[in-house]
Amino acid sequence: MNDRNLVDEIRRKIDIVDIVSSYIPLTQKGKNFFGVCPFHDDTNPSMSVSREKQIYRCFSCGASGNVFNFVMDYEHLGFRETLKFLGEKANINVDELHISTKPNKNQKFYDAYDFGLKFYQNNLNTIDGKQAKDYLKKRQINDELIKEFGIGLSLKRPDDLTKILLGKGYNLNLLNLIGLSSQDRDTYIDRIIFPLTDTSGKVVGFSGRIYKDQNINKYLNTKETPIFKKGELIYHYAESKDSVRQKKEVIVMEGFMDVIRASSIGYRNTVALMGTAMTKEQANLIKRLSNNIIICFDGDEPGQHANLVNGEQFASMGIDVKVIELHDGLDPDTYILQYGQEKFKALVENAINFQDYKISSLKNNYNLTSDEEKVAYINSVLETTSKINDEIHREIILKKLAIEVNIGYNTLEKRLQAFLEKNKNEEKKHVLSVQIEPKKTKKRNKYITSSLAVLYYMLIKNWVIVKYDREGIYFPEENMRFLASEISYYYHKYGTITIADFYTYLNEKENLLPIYNEVISSNFDDNPKDEAILDYIKVVREGVLKSEIKRLEGLIRNTVDPLEKARIAEKIRCLKIGS
Ligand code: CTP
Ligand code: MN
Repeated sequence: MNDRNLVDEIRRKIDIVDIVSSYIPLTQKGKNFFGVCPFHDDTNPSMSVSREKQIYRCFSCGASGNVFNFVMDYEHLGFRETLKFLGEKANINVDELHISTKPNKNQKFYDAYDFGLKFYQNNLNTIDGKQAKDYLKKRQINDELIKEFGIGLSLKRPDDLTKILLGKGYNLNLLNLIGLSSQDRDTYIDRIIFPLTDTSGKVVGFSGRIYKDQNINKYLNTKETPIFKKGELIYHYAESKDSVRQKKEVIVMEGFMDVIRASSIGYRNTVALMGTAMTKEQANLIKRLSNNIIICFDGDEPGQHANLVNGEQFASMGIDVKVIELHDGLDPDTYILQYGQEKFKALVENAINFQDYKISSLKNNYNLTSDEEKVAYINSVLETTSKINDEIHREIILKKLAIEVNIGYNTLEKRLQAFLEKNKNEEKKHVLSVQIEPKKTKKRNKYITSSLAVLYYMLIKNWVIVKYDREGIYFPEENMRFLASEISYYYHKYGTITIADFYTYLNEKENLLPIYNEVISSNFDDNPKDEAILDYIKVVREGVLKSEIKRLEGLIRNTVDPLEKARIAEKIRCLKIGS
């Protein structure tokens, strides 16, 4: 069996509906299944999944593909990893597969980082690394953790790595561009190195920590580079995936040391923002990991602030958020070292619902001896309570509040209803605003529509490909011509073609994806009469003829030589007769 057959075999053994519905709830309507698209901000079921065609597509953002595309995008996996992932589900061993992965235009950058990582890791085990090793030992980072987290060391000599990479054929401009060197020297000098990986686990940057008594920046991070986007980076993201899937929740922390410590006691489902600030991109990425998020920031003032701000952000995205509050300004790392695994486990198990956390923190913001502030306090508690979905939970809070502020339960309940009503209206408005029309396709004349139709039928009726090969069909746009020739090529190479399998092939020809999607999503009849297809072909040919005539007529107008004019006129006459 060759590789392509094996790949298609995996795809055929798996039902896209099963896979997609293991990530998002789907409801069947007619032949298709619908769900909320996970690839853009949405609350409407804009994604449709076809069991028959084994493809999905989103009417709103245009995401589309076969089961491989879905898993690649959802899990942030490469093609090879996706094959492995789905191969296991299909009980097909993919170890011997030799898929040609498309060369990444940034491969050189990744290679440099991989090399840098190995270099730094090695330094830690040399004599020069003794002091750093002692420092790590003192912080209870043992060899196992050093290995798991790829921790390394940059040495004092200021151009160790730069020199080696120059020797390997890299030029200085590139090394500066990707942040490994700055001004002819190594960027990282005499620091403990933590590799930073992107969402698929590739090393794209470093963070270097001081380990001696030094009065300089504690951490030095890679600057923005073509492969390192700070606002999209989350520490330990790719590495946490398996554990998150298993534990069905992800814990979000501030720092490296927190994640490393938590992992050391079995919480590998942790990630770090590398600080308390969180971008929208980071929030979206974390949401992809799990819909159950526990935030566990430092127990200091900025950490508490982050609990409220980031918790609110997650909650507004429809996520179930819980909060672990650490006392005495401790960070998770120190907490675990001081109190141990069991105590931390209890914190995780008793993490409090974000809305409850918010309500209990509200008290600190108001002076309850002032009537005015008391009213404001009650209102904000009620507003927060109105965000809680569980009715019983709301009632519990209301009862407590009634006693606490000494106001009648019914009065509070009435006000709560008003907030609930307001939320509902806002949600309605939001739904309306995101209910954008299906992506407007460019205005189509009958020639374009017919061309799309012919391309579609090439995919589902083999005789159309044969006709295309024999007689040639000239499509009006270049991308259509490329697509047609790829379809024909694929069919002859593999002896068969399906819409879903061709998606796999297009992984290596991304520029054809937009036109392919347009063809697939145009809703052409799946069971047309042959005559209908022949009609489409006729219209395509007419269109080409018409535009050729138009071109020649333009040419005549701009030609002075009467002989040449006559020659073109004759050509036009022939074309017209032919049609
Ligand atoms: N950070 C940073 N630059 C700094 C300080 C902090 O990038 N100058 C980021 C790091 O990713 C760090 C996180 O913010 O892990 C949290 O900072 P902090 O709590 O100070 O660091 P810890 O992880 O606690 O590290 P350590 O215990 O070694 O001080
Ligand atoms: Mn910290």
